[in-house]
Amino acid sequence: MKGNIYIETYGCQMNVADTELVLGILKNNGYELTKNAHEANVILLNTCSIRENAEQRIYGRLGNFKTLKTLKPDLVVGILGCMAERLRKDLIEEKKIVDVVVGPDEYRKLPELIDTAFNGEKGIGIKLSRTETYDDIIPYREDGLQAWISVMRGCDKFCTFCVVPFTRGRERSRTLNSIVNEIKQLSLRGFKEVTLLGQNVNSYLDGNFDFADLLSACAVVDRNIRIRFTTSHPQDLSDKLLYTIAENSNICNYIHLPVQSGSNRILQLMNRTYTIEQYLSLIEKARKIIPGVSFSTDIISGFPTEAYEDHVMTLDVMRLVKYDGAYMFKYSPREGTKSFKMGDDVPEEIKTKRLQEIIELQQNISSEINQSLVGKEEIVLIEGLSRKSEKFLSGRTDTNKIVIVPLEENLAEGSYVKVKIERATSATLFGNVVSVIEPGRETLPLTA
Ligand code: 5AD
Ligand code: SF4
Repeated sequence: MKGNIYIETYGCQMNVADTELVLGILKNNGYELTKNAHEANVILLNTCSIRENAEQRIYGRLGNFKTLKTLKPDLVVGILGCMAERLRKDLIEEKKIVDVVVGPDEYRKLPELIDTAFNGEKGIGIKLSRTETYDDIIPYREDGLQAWISVMRGCDKFCTFCVVPFTRGRERSRTLNSIVNEIKQLSLRGFKEVTLLGQNVNSYLDGNFDFADLLSACAVVDRNIRIRFTTSHPQDLSDKLLYTIAENSNICNYIHLPVQSGSNRILQLMNRTYTIEQYLSLIEKARKIIPGVSFSTDIISGFPTEAYEDHVMTLDVMRLVKYDGAYMFKYSPREGTKSFKMGDDVPEEIKTKRLQEIIELQQNISSEINQSLVGKEEIVLIEGLSRKSEKFLSGRTDTNKIVIVPLEENLAEGSYVKVKIERATSATLFGNVVSVIEPGRETLPLTA
């Protein structure tokens, strides 16, 4: 054994998937995983740069490890992911405790770079690649029900506020075959849900196979495995993709489709490449093709020059679409992006106030949607005990809503059940199990 690795993961699900890749690589090279930082001789932080506060948190964490390193001078501390790309100099020269800095496309070199650090030098790998997809690497995953699979890397969209195209580089896709094989393996291990990941997942392209082809190939592997995917860009949500979702009962009727703003002027400044009218007609079309489809979104408040009228347009769009959920953020200027040069002219307290209004509105909408489900039946995948009580189980609908049901003997983790919804809050549905759905059915009726 070479040593113990302790790793913390910050940011998006891509990072969660990357951490599993990194662990796959390091375990193959003789390292063991530890869940206790004090037992580790290598501590890695897989980092996120998307907003200022994400980076601040990680700097705070590095401070903690500095103390540990004074007690244990041989400890190797490494930064992986987006911050490695953005802040290499700062991390090595100023925050002197960092020994290893490795960006998202250089994880294969990690064992070598950790060795360099053990020999007293800095291990640095921050080149971005046009081809690296880690297609041949088997990620290390603990047993469970749900797995993340990264199917493409990078982003070519260059939204003006976003660092991802700079920290994760150009778009490239894994082969369809390797993804399908990975799902076959997960099926054998009893997994019940996979989420296909990409910063821009519907730009997936492997030769002639597009994302719709990939989804249908994944869906037939095991009809008892639910397929989810994220994140979709409105520009690439094709009709073929919508029909593929509609035709496959185990592809979840749930699309994460970030709108970012409701104002055409702001959307243009953001380089989002659609107008609000185009976005809304896309939603309307999707709802026709996939009855019952639900949407979630990302919204930014306080983008440069955002006026009160622009903010009101965002609230209007939220009321029109009625998203099932939203990730809502204050604009955070990132050096090197186009919008950084536009200034950051919306005062902090106005950003906060607008964000608060956006959050409140979304809570009301979620509540309303959830209330409308009371009395209806939903198919739920049971995931385990409820976090709040051992007398209840928790699961999710295919539209990603959490459902709590009373614990019963015949209900195991990983079973699909039909649930009658009895009451609801803005975040959770509560109900009773009506029937258990037999495993091994050819087609899973994901909607009741
Ligand atoms: N400031 C605030 N939010 C941002 N996002 C990306 N960059 C920024 C930024 N500079 C949000 C977007 C994106 C999500 C992943 O993070 O809404 O969709
Ligand atoms: Fe960033 Fe836009 Fe790419 Fe999403 S689509 S990762 S917001 S540049």
